[in-house]
Amino acid sequence: MEHSVALVTGTTSGLGYAAARALAGEGWREIIVTGRSLAKVQETAAQLAAESKTPVFTPLELDLDSPSSVQSALAELVKRGRPVDFLLLNAGLVGGKKRVLTAAGVEASQAPLIGHHQLTVGLLRANLLSPNARIVITGSEAARGDVPMFSYTDVAAFAATHYQGDRSAALEALLRNGPNVKYEPNRAYADAKLIVAWWAAALARRLPAGMAVYAISPGSAPDTKATRNAGPAMKWLMIPLFKLIPGMSQTPETAARRYLQASEFGTDVSGQFFASAPKKLTGPIEAMRHPHFHDRANQEAAWHAVVKVSGVDFPYPHP
Ligand SMILES: NC(=O)c1ccc[n+]([C@@H]2O[C@H](COP(=O)([O-])OP(=O)(O)OC[C@H]3O[C@@H](n4cnc5c(N)ncnc54)[C@H](OP(=O)(O)O)[C@@H]3O)[C@@H](O)[C@H]2O)c1
Repeated sequence: MEHSVALVTGTTSGLGYAAARALAGEGWREIIVTGRSLAKVQETAAQLAAESKTPVFTPLELDLDSPSSVQSALAELVKRGRPVDFLLLNAGLVGGKKRVLTAAGVEASQAPLIGHHQLTVGLLRANLLSPNARIVITGSEAARGDVPMFSYTDVAAFAATHYQGDRSAALEALLRNGPNVKYEPNRAYADAKLIVAWWAAALARRLPAGMAVYAISPGSAPDTKATRNAGPAMKWLMIPLFKLIPGMSQTPETAARRYLQASEFGTDVSGQFFASAPKKLTGPIEAMRHPHFHDRANQEAAWHAVVKVSGVDFPYPHP
């Protein structure tokens, strides 16, 4: 892929910041860095430019919780008119003890996917992704079911119990954290990252030939602000333990490298979820084979639920 224009979301700290810096190191000519407020992301862009000694960072305001902010960001990108070669949808969070809903009624840890969907579909519709564009969205090993303290919802069973088997309605309930959903932050996060993996698989079927999308887990990188809302068990027990046990954590720079690695993957593996080997949280990434990631009914139901909640769709198959 030509190292021309990259767009990275959630760059004001952690892995998005590390990824933007690494992209500059690889010679990308322009890196659009996004953050919830213009002032904050301008500061980030200036800091990145100073650290990397390359003036390639363009700040862009983008609050993924707000459809109007996504629309403004898209309008700005349309005005500039330069297609994006690498779209890195990195922003995300683990929710706190108290459930938070956005003004649009989406649970906070699910909200980045809704904004990322609006952004991606907006770029596709405006012809602002280059013909061989690569899209990476951040997943997590938490969606596998083999990470302590994280478990995901069995969507088919949940749909059968509460929604007469309608998985799309069940997934909409998970995105909105209700009705019939009891809020529990780690489960909401595992569900959010599972829906991310399903969304990537469904988007892959809709992309024009030449483009590709992957869900990528950066792996365990505790030295970011990801767990700022986490409860005491996670903050004071699990994370310090992870840092002590060899192989349980890596630096943000190593984690962000996974994104750059994926930007070079082919269209043959489009739609797949790559993460650390099963039961591991660091090391080389591989395509996940767990059957729940490959359930096509859930992938399509996730797409339709995201379309319903976000209010935007992308035609399938591509004309
Ligand atoms: N660190 C890990 O161990 C780990 C492991 C697996 C997956 N991940 C995933 O990796 C990604 C990056 O996390 P991180 O570890 O780098 O955490 P981080 O330091 O907290 O960075 C997250 C970034 O996303 C932004 N963000 C979150 N929600 C947003 C929204 N609704 N709209 C706009 N920006 C938003 C944050 O901005 P604000 O500060 O303004 O909120 C911040 O810039 C996340 O998707 C996370 O779930 C992390």
